[in-house]
This record gives sequence, C-alpha cells and structure tokens, in this order.
Amino acid sequence: MSSQDFATTTAEPASSYLIPDIAVPPSRLLMGPGPSETHASVLAALARPTVGHLDPFFLQLMNEVQEMLRQVFQTQNRLTLAVSGTGSAGMETCLVNLISPGDRVVIGVNGVFGGRMKEVARRAGADVLAIERPFGEVFSLEEVEQAIKHHSPKLVGLVHAETSTGARQPLDGFARVVREAGALLVVDCVTSLGGCEIPIDTWEIDAAYSGTQKCLSCPPGLAPVTFGPRAMEVLNARKSPVQSWYLDMGLVSNYWAESSRAYHHTAPINMNYALHEALRLVLQEGLEQRFQRHNLNHQALRNGLEAIGIEFAVRAECRLPMLNAVKIPAGVDDGAFRSRLLREFGIEIGAGLGPMKGVTWRIGLMGETARPKNVLLFLAAAEQCLIGQGYRLNPGASIAAANDVYLKSRGA
Ligand SMILES: Cc1ncc(COP(=O)(O)O)c(C=O)c1O
Repeated sequence: MSSQDFATTTAEPASSYLIPDIAVPPSRLLMGPGPSETHASVLAALARPTVGHLDPFFLQLMNEVQEMLRQVFQTQNRLTLAVSGTGSAGMETCLVNLISPGDRVVIGVNGVFGGRMKEVARRAGADVLAIERPFGEVFSLEEVEQAIKHHSPKLVGLVHAETSTGARQPLDGFARVVREAGALLVVDCVTSLGGCEIPIDTWEIDAAYSGTQKCLSCPPGLAPVTFGPRAMEVLNARKSPVQSWYLDMGLVSNYWAESSRAYHHTAPINMNYALHEALRLVLQEGLEQRFQRHNLNHQALRNGLEAIGIEFAVRAECRLPMLNAVKIPAGVDDGAFRSRLLREFGIEIGAGLGPMKGVTWRIGLMGETARPKNVLLFLAAAEQCLIGQGYRLNPGASIAAANDVYLKSRGA
C-alpha cells in the first residue's frame, strides 16, 4: 500500500468501518485444537452483570473457583488459581516464577508447545538443555533421566498433551527421577485437564498450568495453575524479583488469598463467572465419566476414520483422546477440504502445525465437543468432502463403524 493509499483509507469517515449492528458470529462446530464448544450455561454466565473485583459476591466466587480447580487438578495445593490470560500466560507464570536467571533447566521438545516452553525458559534467563524427540513421539523415563544426569537441572518441563501432534506424554513415575535429582517437575496440561487423567498429587507434579478453552469448554481467557509445596519453597526462597510483574505469583496470590485480598490487577470478572460455571459442569459430570466420554468418542472417531482408510499420525499407545492427529490422504487437497467443511457444514478442524503442516489434520474432541452427534456429523461431512475430491471410499462406512462403537458401549 502506498502512502497515498494510506492517506485515502484513513481519511474515510470512521463509521464506514463499523459493523452497523452487533457483531454476530457465524454458527460453528469447533472440532479443532481449541477453542472447543462451550455449553450454553457457560455463555450465559459470561453475560451476567459485572460486579467489582472486590465485591463480596466475586470474592466468594473466586474461593469456589479455587476449590473446584483443586478438584479438577486432583490436588490439595493451596496455591491453585486462575491466572488472567490464556494458556501461554499459565506457561509463563510457572516458568518465570520458578526460574531465576542462570538456573539450569531441562525442557522436552517434541512439538510446538515444548518449543514454546523452551523459549519462555530461555527468556526467563535459564540455561536450557532442550531434549528433543520427533513430532508425534514421546520421551521415555530413561531419556529424561539421562538429561537430568547430564545437566543437573533445577526444573524439568514436559508437555503432557502436545496439541501440535496429538501425542500424550507418559508421566507416571517421572516425578521420582526428577525429585531424586532435587529438581521440580513442571507440566503443561493445557489440552489434557478435564479430558484425561492428570492427577497432580498422585503423580507428584510440582507445578502445572492449563487453559480454559480446551477440555474445560470455556472461552479462552484464563489459565488455571497449581503450585505444590516444593514449588512454593522455591518461590519463597527467591533472591531476585520475578521477571514479570503481572504474573508474579507472590503478588497475584495476595489477591486470591482470603486473608489479604490486596489489589494487584482488575480480575477479568465475567471470565471467572464462565470458568466457575464450566468447572461446576465438569464436576457435576464427574471426572471419571468425563474421561470415559472423551475416550468413547475418540474410539468412535478413530474406527470411523480407519473404516475409510484414514490413518492416525501417532502410535496407539500414546494417542490423546481429545486431539486426533490424522494423516491427510494422498491426493487430497488440505486447504480445500478444510475450507469446504467450514463453508458448507460450519465445521472447524485444525491444520497441522509446524512440520506437520500439510501432513496432518487435527480433529479436536475436547469437552463439550466430545459428543456422538458431533462425531457422526463430522464423519458424514468428511465423507462428502473427500468423495468430492475424488477420494475413493465406501460411502457410509465411517458412520457405520462409529455407530458400532456407540452401540457396543450401550451393550447393544
Ligand atoms: C499444549 C499447549 N500449551 C500451551 C498452549 C498455549 O495456550 P494459548 O494459546 O491459550 O495461549 C496451547 C494452545 O493451544 C497448547 O495446546
């Protein structure tokens, strides 16, 4: 654009740029890597009247959010709260509070979000050893043990659910080797919290962070975090101030603590209403039932896709139920397939990320999205879009295979 164009554009009356009415989003079925579908009662909670951030009603709501987050994280950790910001703010919160400049850390990088963790740790001044696995693979306990022996870190960071690849990092037993070396285990559970097992206390995870917009089925905007006793010791022993004022847990927790309620920043009031409602729904359903629902819908989708020749990109033992990364069949145009799904059926799925771009599709079954009606609609629409591109399949085969899973689950 030339400076002349720019002058012309900016000189036009501002009103010509305004949407004349309220902005009404199109109807979408969110089956991508997040955000996921949101329950109507969570959206209704968002629309309730805003109160002040020190209003007794809001303070009580904060207490309840903390209590419900503890139940969802399966932890007794006192320092459990919702950071203002998306999942990345949760990542930064855990890392900048636990890392002081010069600290040695080990980060597992087997996807885009491990890469982000490494970068955040580097910017926090850490001496980072990144251990790497190809996208779609996971780390063995021995690999992590070796890295710890080699680098003697203060902190080990791993991504439990790597949304860029669909791989689930095993964590059971990992804390033992991390603790024996005197280090902290920090885990990214942005995509797994509320969708599959991630019992913070049982697995002795020292700090973890998540996001609202995946399996908690709340719009993006808050980042649940939890810090255990060993992480608290590190926080309390810090000699230098936390690099980020906004995310400084010492300051933020003074606002969340019932005993002080010291103003730090104005909490996103309505987002906390929404999270409160989303957590209430998670607990009303029950964690175990919710995990089973994610698994069942994943199995139906998997059998459906396999019945029409579409393969998963991650081996079965370490697949996430809520993020299904599948190989784009040869001869099928990635962009054309996804845009037809969106245009004609209102269904959003995700493209591959990083080196998986053009290689995989990422089909999300997170929270409210993980329902049979969505799986069946997606399979029917996908069949039509694939046939339209000349892909050969047995029409209806994916739907029959998915239905078979649902019928068997009911004992039919
Ligand atoms: C595993 C993982 N970590 C971190 C993030 C960052 O979260 P956000 O995009 O909400 O900032 C994401 C987002 O997709 C994620 O999937």
